[in-house]
Amino acid sequence: MATKPKALPIYVLNGPNLNLLGQREPEIYGRTTLAEIGKMTAKRAKERGLSTVFRQSNHEGELIDWIQEARTKAAGLIINGGAYTHTSVALHDALRALGRPVVEVHLSNPHAREKFRHRSHISPLATGVIVGFGAQSYLLAVDAMASLLQGTGP
Ligand code: DQA
Repeated sequence: MATKPKALPIYVLNGPNLNLLGQREPEIYGRTTLAEIGKMTAKRAKERGLSTVFRQSNHEGELIDWIQEARTKAAGLIINGGAYTHTSVALHDALRALGRPVVEVHLSNPHAREKFRHRSHISPLATGVIVGFGAQSYLLAVDAMASLLQGTGP
């Protein structure tokens, strides 16, 4: 009997300074490290019958390379663009070419913070946006992506 082809993973991409989670402004971002978020996210995805590729970069170009890679290697993309969310037309353009569902996540709620964080270049390309729930934002994003990919949403 032919084996079932392996489903493509969800890419979970993290932008600049998110490698410092746990140490950086814990009163805003919490004490959970990025490695812990990676593990929690993988576990939740597995429970939903999905797998993840979890990465972080401080470099805009590397994030863009990964978004381009996701065009053929990912079923969908969860992205916390960090500060590039608010500045990067290049990230916006890469997402325009993705052709896969996108869920934007943030640990904090940028809309409740400084004005320069209110603008997102990612949101117009996202199927949905989850902000303000700390590390849990990522788990909610996995749940949202699972319903998008599996058609199990309401
Ligand atoms: C962030 C919010 C951004 O405004 C900020 O630059 C970050 C983290 C968040 O997850 O809350 O680096 O993306």
